[in-house]
Amino acid sequence: MEQRKGRRLVLFPLPLQGHINPMLDLANILHSRGFSITIIHTTFNSPEPSNYPRFAFRFISENLPEHHRTCCKTDLVAFLSMLNTKCGPPFRDCLADLLSDASEEPIACLISDAILYFTQDVASDLKLPRLVLRTGAASSFCVFAAFPLLREKGYLPIQDSRLEEPVVELPPLRVKDLPSIHTSDPEDLYKVVNSMVSQSKASSGMIWNTFQELEPTALETLHQQLGVPLFPIGPFHKRFAATSSPSGPLTHDETCIPWLDKQVPQSVVYVGFGSLATISETQFLEIAWGLANSDQPFLWVVRPGLVHGSDWLEPLPTGFLEALGGRGHIVKWAPQQQVLAHPSVGAFWTHNGWNSTLESICEGVPMICMPCFTDQRVNARFVSEVWGIGLQLEKDIERGEIERTIKRLMVEKEGENIRERMLRLKEKSDLCLSRDGSSRQSSDNLVRHILSLES
Ligand code: UDX
Repeated sequence: MEQRKGRRLVLFPLPLQGHINPMLDLANILHSRGFSITIIHTTFNSPEPSNYPRFAFRFISENLPEHHRTCCKTDLVAFLSMLNTKCGPPFRDCLADLLSDASEEPIACLISDAILYFTQDVASDLKLPRLVLRTGAASSFCVFAAFPLLREKGYLPIQDSRLEEPVVELPPLRVKDLPSIHTSDPEDLYKVVNSMVSQSKASSGMIWNTFQELEPTALETLHQQLGVPLFPIGPFHKRFAATSSPSGPLTHDETCIPWLDKQVPQSVVYVGFGSLATISETQFLEIAWGLANSDQPFLWVVRPGLVHGSDWLEPLPTGFLEALGGRGHIVKWAPQQQVLAHPSVGAFWTHNGWNSTLESICEGVPMICMPCFTDQRVNARFVSEVWGIGLQLEKDIERGEIERTIKRLMVEKEGENIRERMLRLKEKSDLCLSRDGSSRQSSDNLVRHILSLES
């Protein structure tokens, strides 16, 4: 732990699991560098403050009508747009209150999630510098930054007849890899994305949960396009032994680990689709039969609510797991980072949320990619085509393709090559956090940058 800096940082995460966890990891990193931390959080999805005794918490009421609180699962774009509108007044009051508190250390800057773009104007009004945390990849941000061009060239809105066409301006993406998302009003999506990009440009710098060696081209492009300092200091989660359970409504089912202990090294397919994605009952059953027919052991996270119209496992045929004689284990929520680090795990069938993608890279586990929406599609394309560390399921979810893909990755020569490339990338992810590694250096730059900001 470094000497205290006598400065406080105010952090404001987007209240969704895939964003809260990296922001809390960042809080840990900056606290260990000597800064005091205050987290402003919505009452919606709030973490348990007693799990984070080193941070001060302030809660604001986001004033969302009840149907908008639940629409983070049904219409994510409407939820994000509403959050940016409704949080303005309470956030401003809270920040002004913190700034006027003479009993606390002076506040050096605000660090907000990039999607909470409204905070740039609030920070400017209060004459507080604002840094941005982008929890996703730099590569997918490049695509978001290209939205005006993609609209101009007619790639967006996506037309079903053009899905397989290459996006020649953004190789190796195809139209179907663009980070589109179903929403009741497509204009809302363009507004959220364009505001995220323009207000990141207006910030005093961007912090990234990635590392230089993973995304050199995207980071260089963004450096040129955005014109603000960039700090790739990831992978965040590898910088600390977990000190408390990650925030979230679901508790980890620890039965995974003794079950994994009993399996052959590198034999298990770990299957998990993050905290937001949903699938139909038909897709659920195709996944179940694909796994059963693959002959590999599998650990499957079926989050309550994952399957439309079901509470949990009701659509599975009676006796499905029993018939597999212990080859399959299903849980509601897994200690994912621990699972990926387990020697029995040989592949991760993932929706390619950025946290999951990065966690898989850090443990050297090759991926089967099944992106559902937004940045996941770009991440999946990079995993399969740019880094060559996974295979993408290309068609509608179908048991035959699932079985073949698992076999290609787990037993065939093609899989061996993918595993080798993955291990080389894992080594790079270890190196970037070593003493002179790129992410360590970037963190030093970030600390210097924060201390140089004048309120
Ligand atoms: C969301 C978006 O879906 C994604 O596109 C974006 O990149 C980040 O925000 P989410 O769907 O939750 O994220 O996926 P992901 O980014 O992979 O984050 C999931 C987190 O939950 C990971 O840190 C993972 O370790 C954790 N997790 C997941 C568990 O701890 N247990 C589980 O069983 C599943």
